[in-house]
Amino acid sequence: MHVLALLLTLVLLLKEAQAWGFKNGIFHNSIWLEQAAGVYHRESRKGKYQLTYKEAKAVCKYEGGNLATYEQLEAARQIGFHVCAAGWFDRGRVGYPIVKAGANCGFGKVGIIDYGYRLNKSEKWDAYCYNPTSKECGGIQTEQQKIIQSPGFPEEYQDEQICYWHIRVRLGQRIHLHFLEFDVENDTSCLADYLEVYDSYDDVSGFAGRFCGEDLPDDIISTGNVMTLKFLSDASVTAGGFQLQYVAFDASLDPQNQTHNFTAAPLH
Ligand SMILES: *[C@@H]1O[C@H](CO)[C@@H](O)[C@H](O)[C@H]1NC(C)=O
Ligand SMILES: *[C@@H]1O[C@H](CO)[C@@H](O)[C@H](O)[C@H]1NC(C)=O
Ligand SMILES: *[C@@H]1O[C@H](CO)[C@@H](O)[C@H](O)[C@H]1NC(C)=O
Ligand SMILES: *[C@@H]1O[C@H](CO)[C@@H](O)[C@H](O)[C@H]1NC(C)=O
Repeated sequence: MHVLALLLTLVLLLKEAQAWGFKNGIFHNSIWLEQAAGVYHRESRKGKYQLTYKEAKAVCKYEGGNLATYEQLEAARQIGFHVCAAGWFDRGRVGYPIVKAGANCGFGKVGIIDYGYRLNKSEKWDAYCYNPTSKECGGIQTEQQKIIQSPGFPEEYQDEQICYWHIRVRLGQRIHLHFLEFDVENDTSCLADYLEVYDSYDDVSGFAGRFCGEDLPDDIISTGNVMTLKFLSDASVTAGGFQLQYVAFDASLDPQNQTHNFTAAPLH
C-alpha cells in the first residue's frame, strides 16, 4: 500500500516538474511575468503578441523605463529570468530568454532565442522592459508576511496601471490574504479598474476573484504556496486604492482555524 502511494506521488511530482522548479529553495513556475535584474516582461492589455515596436517602447516608457538591451536581457537570464514569449527589445530586436531547455519553448535551446532585428516594426510581439528602480507596481514577494498596496497608496492610484504581484512562500505553506482597505472604481462587472486574485503563479489558472468598488473582499486562502494578484486601472477615473496583507502558514494547519495578526500600515 505504502509503496503504491509513494509511486503515485512520484509520478505526480514528475509530471509537475515539467512546468515547475526549485529556485532559492522555493518551488515555483518562473514562466510568467518574472522580474530580474530590472528586466521584466510585459504584454498588451489586449493579450499576448499585440504590441508594435512603437507601442512596446511606449509601454516601457510609461513605467519609467526603456526597452531592455540584449545585454540586459542576457544578464537577467543568467540569474534565472525565463519567459516563453517573444518580445521587443532595444532597437527593434525580438526574442526571449530561456534558462531551462524545453521541447515546447525555445527549440530545446538555452540562451536568448533571437529573432533578430525586425525590418517590419509593425509586427506584434510582447515587450521586455528595463527599469531597475520600478519597484512600486508589483513584483515577486517571498517574505513570510507582507503588506501589499496599490501604487502610490494612500494617494489615489494612477490611470493605466497594470501590476502583477507574485507571492511565493515556502513549499508546504499556504497563503492567507486579508484585505485591510479597498476602494477601486466601481462598475457592474469590474471592467474598468479591478484587482484579480489567482490561486496559482500566473493569471491564467486558479482564478479566485475579481474585485472593485468599496466593499472589503473576504479573506482568500491559497491551496498551494503561490498566488498571483493583478491590478489593472483604465484610462479614466481613479480611486483610493487598496491595501492588503498576506501571511504564510503551515499547510498542515487547519486554514479555518488561523488567527493571524493583520495590521494596517500606518498612513503617512
Ligand atoms: C508588417 O507586419 C504587419 C503585422 O504583422 C503586417 O500586417 C504587414 O503586412 C507587414 N508589412 C510588410 C511590408 O510585410
Ligand atoms: C457598485 O456598483 C453596483 C452596480 O453598479 C452597485 O449595485 C453598487 O451599489 C455599487 N457599490 C458601491 C459601493 O458603490
Ligand atoms: C482550533 O484552535 C483551537 C485553539 O488553538 C484548538 O483548541 C482547536 O482544536 C483547533 N481546531 C481545529 C479543528 O484544528
Ligand atoms: C498577535 O498579537 C498579539 C498582541 O500583539 C501577540 O501576543 C500574539 O503573539 C500575536 N500572534 C501572532 C500569531 O503573531
